[in-house]
Amino acid sequence: MLNGKRILLIVSGGIAAVKVPDLIRRLRERGASVRCVLTKGGAQFVTPLTLAALSGQKIYQDLFSLTDEAEMGHIQLSRDADILLVAPATADIMAKMSAGIADDLATTALLATDKPVMIAPSMNVMMWTHPATQANLETLKSRAVEVIGPGAGDLACGEVGDGRLAEVKDIIAALSRFFQRQTSEGALARMRVLVTSGPTHEPIDPVRYISNRSSGKQGHAIAAALADLGAQVTLIAGPTTEPDPDGVKVVRVETAAQMLKATREGLPCDIAVCAAAVADWHVADASKTKIKKGGTPPRINLAPNPDILATLAQPGPQRPGLVIGFAAETGDVIEKAKLKRAAKDCDWIIANDVSPGSGTFGGDNNTVHVISAANVESWPTMKKREVAEKLAAAIAAHAAKFL
Ligand code: CTP
Repeated sequence: MLNGKRILLIVSGGIAAVKVPDLIRRLRERGASVRCVLTKGGAQFVTPLTLAALSGQKIYQDLFSLTDEAEMGHIQLSRDADILLVAPATADIMAKMSAGIADDLATTALLATDKPVMIAPSMNVMMWTHPATQANLETLKSRAVEVIGPGAGDLACGEVGDGRLAEVKDIIAALSRFFQRQTSEGALARMRVLVTSGPTHEPIDPVRYISNRSSGKQGHAIAAALADLGAQVTLIAGPTTEPDPDGVKVVRVETAAQMLKATREGLPCDIAVCAAAVADWHVADASKTKIKKGGTPPRINLAPNPDILATLAQPGPQRPGLVIGFAAETGDVIEKAKLKRAAKDCDWIIANDVSPGSGTFGGDNNTVHVISAANVESWPTMKKREVAEKLAAAIAAHAAKFL
């Protein structure tokens, strides 16, 4: 999404400016070109030389620089980009933007631009929650300035609360979503999608449970990739340390029974992707109190869990138009997955090898085969994020024809 995009990055003066080099690096990795305007305050935290080395471009700092104006006027600078991103955006630059003040190169470019503007605020929590900043924020939002973050947590000033610069990956995700919306209005716009992800925990007693090695990385990445294409995504997530993807409604559950309930509550939907590694059994007689270790070891009686994928794929008025399952196999992957697809009546099954040594569970890569009734497509090993993007694109192509 960011390949070939031209970003005018305005770096204003906050401690979070130290994260800007990483942001530039990640944007360039994705094929974007980054031209930086550095305010006087910004230059207190990050040097023009660092930004120039990482962006591979000249850094613009001075409104009245004869050379800069001769090479590229400040108006041109603000127009010669696909988007203006202010990161970090201080309370001061937000106030100036809101009031239309143009007293340096950054604020002049922001006032003179005819391009969309995004800001990633970063400041002390009291400055952020101050009515003046909040009023400025509302003014900026009413002018279609898109706001990324800020996040909550420990602040550089030693206080805790809202005001942390959004994570670099979240800024990149927001930019990608912006360009996605711009190019296609979202190939999955208005589509309702359910995604299950992560493992489930089936309690033995209040402190112990049965589970599996699923990390939720693949399912969460799929939810994010579908949201990037404009879908309204509900992610039903088992216990996982994966962060909630941006732009996705997340329902956190623990057990298979809760996952089924949340899935049912998410119906009707157009597309369902069951990426969760749902435990096949639960403990039939889970103890309400902690089982003590004295005496003979306890017997655990297992009872089958409901099959969420098979339930969703059952024919009926609420069946989503496209139901996709996963098949985690160890050996004879394609053959076993074909049988699983037919048995569960889903439209596609994404088969992957989870043998020890494959690195699939918990790892960043995945090698999958996409199996439908008529076809088997084997994809090369890719990052889970790339698998998610390719799958989202395949879903969008299918939806354009059939949903
Ligand atoms: N699945 C589900 N509910 C279950 C079990 C599995 O929705 N109770 C879904 C998974 O989300 C996945 C697919 O079914 O999309 C296949 O899961 P997998 O664990 O590979 O297969 P199982 O049906 O559990 O069969 P087996 O463990 O015997 O291979």
